[in-house]
Amino acid sequence: MSRTIIVSNRLPLKVFRDDNEQLQFATSEGGLATGLGSVYKKGDNLWIGWPGLAVENDNDRKVVDQQLKAGNMRPVYLTEEEVHEFYEGFSNETLWPIFHYFPSYANFDENHWESYKKVNQKFCDAILEIARPDDTIWVHDYQLLLVPQMLRDQLPQISIGFFQHIPFPSFETFRAIPWRRELLMGLMGADLVGFHTFDDMRHFLSSVSRLAGMKVNQTQVVVGNRTVTVDAFPMGIDFEKYEGMASHPDTLSQEVDYRTSIGKTKVMLSIDRLDYSKGIPNRLKAIEMFFDLNPQYIGEVSLFMIVVPSRDTVPKYRALKEEIDLAVGRINAKIGTVNWKPIHYFYRSFDIHSLSAFYRMADVALVTPMRDGMNLVAKEYVASKLDNKGVLILSEMAGASKELSDSIRINPNDIHQLSDAIRDALEMEVEVQQQHMAVMKQTIKRYNIHHWVKLFLEQLEGIKDDQKTAGAK
Ligand code: F6P
Repeated sequence: MSRTIIVSNRLPLKVFRDDNEQLQFATSEGGLATGLGSVYKKGDNLWIGWPGLAVENDNDRKVVDQQLKAGNMRPVYLTEEEVHEFYEGFSNETLWPIFHYFPSYANFDENHWESYKKVNQKFCDAILEIARPDDTIWVHDYQLLLVPQMLRDQLPQISIGFFQHIPFPSFETFRAIPWRRELLMGLMGADLVGFHTFDDMRHFLSSVSRLAGMKVNQTQVVVGNRTVTVDAFPMGIDFEKYEGMASHPDTLSQEVDYRTSIGKTKVMLSIDRLDYSKGIPNRLKAIEMFFDLNPQYIGEVSLFMIVVPSRDTVPKYRALKEEIDLAVGRINAKIGTVNWKPIHYFYRSFDIHSLSAFYRMADVALVTPMRDGMNLVAKEYVASKLDNKGVLILSEMAGASKELSDSIRINPNDIHQLSDAIRDALEMEVEVQQQHMAVMKQTIKRYNIHHWVKLFLEQLEGIKDDQKTAGAK
């Protein structure tokens, strides 16, 4: 029986040490983990990835291995040096800023590149230990761009899919990477390469033809006697889960608690990982401008801003944290009153019921990234609005904006536009809110995460079938 093996940098299970240095395991609530749950938990299917912690000692490794095995997972252990050079370094200080159009943040370090190659080979070796020629391998994201070709070299007949969860930049931005050709050629080992949006796909194809000199026929790249199909698969959320969560008793009681504390204040909400791609400083500038231009809202509405800690060992992220802390402190000090503050700022993660309570309460959601592959928060907000009341303000730089044209779409660099959008959202008639929300909900419900998984895997299977038929002729 052929199997499907999912490969990503992180496993859908986080391993960490508690205060007593004991190993603990926490399953991921993330969209990808939920969506792919129906795949890797089935039969002999598997998920290969990094458990998120350096596990050096043999006994500890046995414990982790066992726990993972029971959940159809296999670990790729990274050393501390690899975490520094491959994960923090090349993945998050080179590829991440370039792919999100922050080229001036990019660090091009030869050692980090060497480590990236080495760790991609490590992932490939872990796949080779398990994979059989008739398996399907689905590799995920920018940390593993070289894996498809490494694998193809060893198992020429195997079916390989790759999906990129972050944007693919324009050719002019991508060309800045010294190892651009190697990265593109790494992906040429795949049978199917997927992106969230048509634009990402177009940018990729343009780089492939102009930087790697490959022949591109519409959405297919010709690689010797093989072809690589490139397509757009906008990722969805588990709609039923978020809809169900919004009427869960724990969510409702959490909402009552929050309401008791804030009274009738209207709620604006933002939820992001700490990341410069998320546009948090610009959002804060717009909030300040909004209160300056519309003082009648002072005391009436607050922003609840949840920032989830992320990659805090990377210098740019640490600097961003300081910038946000200062801006929030300054704005709260400037216009806060004894019983009201403009910004309630939380630097931590919340459980799913608390998030759902925030979604329910939010009159306005501010999803304003400078650049985002998709942004699932926008979709979760819509799915959580059982009465369809509420307004989504969405950056046109987020992949989700292509599907959610019933949001108020803004350019995150245009602070004035964002400030006006906040006012318009707060003043939108309830019937109009409901009309827009209903349209967005229909889209999100239909194109959910299960649909996304099915579409990708079916297309990959179709490609393999066509190859077999062609080979038999
Ligand atoms: O959006 C890309 C992504 O890699 C997600 O898959 C992940 O949830 C997020 O960024 C954070 O990534 P990490 O904590 O693994 O660096």
